Amino acid sequence: MCGITGYVGKRQSLPIVMDQLKRLEYRGYDSSGVALLENGSVHVLKSVGKIRALQDMVERFETQSTTGIGHTRWATHGAPSDANAHPHMDCTGRFAVVHNGIIENYLELREELQMLGHQFKSETDTEVLSHLVEELYEGDLVQTVEETIKKVHGSYAMAVVSNQAKNRIVVARNQSPLVIGLGDGEMFLASDIPAVMPYTRRVLLLEDGDVAIMERDHVEVRHGGKAVERPPFEVTWDEGSAEKAGYEHFMLKEIHEQPQVIRNTLRGRIDDEGTVHIRELEPLEEAIRGAKRVVIAACGTAYHAGCVGKLFMERMLRVPVEIDLASEFRYREPIVDEETLGIVVSQSGETADTLAALREMKGRGAKVVAVVNVVGSSIAREADVPVYTWAGPEICVASTKAYTTQLAVMYLLGLHFANVRGVALEETARLTKELETIPDCVATLMERDDEVERIAATLTEKEDFFFLGRGMDFAVSLEGALKLKEITYLHAEAYAAGEMKHGPLALISPDVPVICLVTSERLREKMISNIKEMKARGGCCLGFLLEGDLQTEQVVDSTFRLPVVDELLMPILSVVPLQMLAYFLARDLGREIDQPRNLAKSVTVE
Ligand code: G6P
Repeated sequence: MCGITGYVGKRQSLPIVMDQLKRLEYRGYDSSGVALLENGSVHVLKSVGKIRALQDMVERFETQSTTGIGHTRWATHGAPSDANAHPHMDCTGRFAVVHNGIIENYLELREELQMLGHQFKSETDTEVLSHLVEELYEGDLVQTVEETIKKVHGSYAMAVVSNQAKNRIVVARNQSPLVIGLGDGEMFLASDIPAVMPYTRRVLLLEDGDVAIMERDHVEVRHGGKAVERPPFEVTWDEGSAEKAGYEHFMLKEIHEQPQVIRNTLRGRIDDEGTVHIRELEPLEEAIRGAKRVVIAACGTAYHAGCVGKLFMERMLRVPVEIDLASEFRYREPIVDEETLGIVVSQSGETADTLAALREMKGRGAKVVAVVNVVGSSIAREADVPVYTWAGPEICVASTKAYTTQLAVMYLLGLHFANVRGVALEETARLTKELETIPDCVATLMERDDEVERIAATLTEKEDFFFLGRGMDFAVSLEGALKLKEITYLHAEAYAAGEMKHGPLALISPDVPVICLVTSERLREKMISNIKEMKARGGCCLGFLLEGDLQTEQVVDSTFRLPVVDELLMPILSVVPLQMLAYFLARDLGREIDQPRNLAKSVTVE
């Protein structure tokens, strides 16, 4: 996820483009840049780091330019660096391009363009666009962009400025957002509505396949080579809610992004034959084949994703898989050697304890895979191979979409390892097929948030909660309880259901709701016995059960029915209503949801 901005009008473009970039910084913040048209030239300023770094640079730059584009980057192809920052130029310095999305066939295009003599300066997929524009340009920039998009596959919102097209920005979109703000004698471009709202409330939303030509007094939208009408609309929301795409909090927005981001995580990692193949892992093939054990380390929510990963990989590979809190791992002289495959999990890629665990594993001779969201982060760079989760920036401190995409990668890793080792092949093929249905199943859960909202409304007076489950359900209980603690400030404890009778049962009373996860048919009978133990002590049991499980339904006080997939994959579904439960309860209690007290998104101290 990156942010694009642009301005063409009578005012100086640079301050406006910079202001818009700051408003889009939540879409990405590892580097930024601008391209300005002035005196027949294209000037590009760009810098790695937050927009502040670019601000320092532009303050020293004299310009009267009235046409400019900008970009704030969230790295996908190529680590954050000055060279990989947008805008990207062609070889002749005539065309500057900014892009948000992923050009899937960029490697092929890059090779073709290199054969034709084009010199590439970055590792990005975007740079193929500027060279393609250069290659295809025959005097008409609009036609060139129309030809360019015919050659690229993937998602893009792009904007081009050129000294060949004065006072003009040409843009195109496919599966990445792009809006044009209509002013009086000036036009504004942005990835999202909030960045144009201070300037105008009349907005035109581009559709997939559209190309638009922005000039001071006029915007023309074209589709399939012909002019089309895209009626503008008036934005009536306030700026804050626009940034959150109309959601009340980033957390809710991020919960709702899950079907799409899980789809992104899976994309390109399951081949046409339905086999999981993670290309990045090819250099580790020998280590994967020869591993006698797997060791996972992580913190917080990422640790909980590791707990699911452990159970899944053990089932698939039949080798011991250990999971450790990264903060404990290195102080216990871990048994790790060249025959150990290490895995660290981290959203930010900067958690100090996880980084230390990674170094510990490597120091003892293990090859280490990092499951990580932030491209170019310390953990991504130091691991032998980073496998990215592609969740996009997560703003809310409490992790939601980062967790479910970590789970998706855990599944992909387990399936990939099984394929490489030639084990459980039938099961692998079946689970891969089911894994592909997960984004749609998660999407159906999004439509049922009102059910969870009603459950949350019954719990606002409670102060202590238990989350119970067995196996995978216990792993998910840990995450459910953590979400609740983090944002409601209420006490919540996850327990392996069978352990309740060894102490915690003493805490059960009608005032302590017990969230019971029952998603394994194999373990259902055992769970029902445990639920009865709670009920006998006056406990109020809220069941999160499989659709059609009438047996458990009879013993719990209320039921949320989950779509049914293989029990190994259930965590990626069952956690979603628990995220929503924490969210609605925190909202009803009036808590500071996106930035809970005492917590930080990224913990870089031990
Ligand atoms: C902090 C965050 C958690 C996160 C944990 C690990 O505590 O608030 O949401 O799970 O760090 O962070 P990482 O970036 O390594 O996944």
